[in-house]
Amino acid sequence: MATLSQDDLKTLVGQAALKYVVPGEIVGVGTGSTVNKFIDALASMKHQIKGAVSSSYASTDRLKALGITVFDSNDVDELSVYIDGADEIDGHGFMIKGGGAALTREKIVAAQSRQFVCIADESKLVKTLGKYPLPVEVIPMATQRVIRQFRAMGGTAQLRLSDGNPLVTDNGQHIVDVTGLQIADPLGFETSVSQWPGVVTVGVFAYQKAQVCLLGTASGVKTLTF
Ligand code: 5RP
Repeated sequence: MATLSQDDLKTLVGQAALKYVVPGEIVGVGTGSTVNKFIDALASMKHQIKGAVSSSYASTDRLKALGITVFDSNDVDELSVYIDGADEIDGHGFMIKGGGAALTREKIVAAQSRQFVCIADESKLVKTLGKYPLPVEVIPMATQRVIRQFRAMGGTAQLRLSDGNPLVTDNGQHIVDVTGLQIADPLGFETSVSQWPGVVTVGVFAYQKAQVCLLGTASGVKTLTF
């Protein structure tokens, strides 16, 4: 059998996620290259769903281009399912997210959903969160203070740039990426960093953890439940 590339694995899990989409309902849609595969697959079901709530302008544009109606999260009550990728996921369904800078809207839509189905290739599965640089969305005025607070915890934090300038999120804020942390207690970490003045969202998803992970592996899609 030919070896599957990372892109192939993303396609497989994107397609596998279709079975969690409830006909007649609105689906929560995340952001990133894996979710793009899901959105492309979702086009085959577009006449069976009411539409989607999206976690970024990028996903909204892709959904609309495929003829899928996108609703504002404020106009929709609870969603049955939210489908999104992750930068890291551990054996409890806790995740690091925000590599695509969409973490705040992702957390909002995840919080609005009864079930979080994470789609990821097997490179994302870790024992302990923290190898992938942790994204934290911050109000620009607080950037240097937040960087110092992470330094005091033993991490190294830096402002994320795009074309040499600070990256600006869909919410008009900045992102700090933190390396050198081992996040052994994701719930405690998320609780604590979320209180820091100027932090909009920390990219640890412990309260909004995944209940299911569709993991793309060399031998096919594995379903992990938490
Ligand atoms: C975007 C995210 C993505 O889910 C995460 O970065 C994974 O992306 P990809 O599927 O491209 O690897 O959190 O903010």
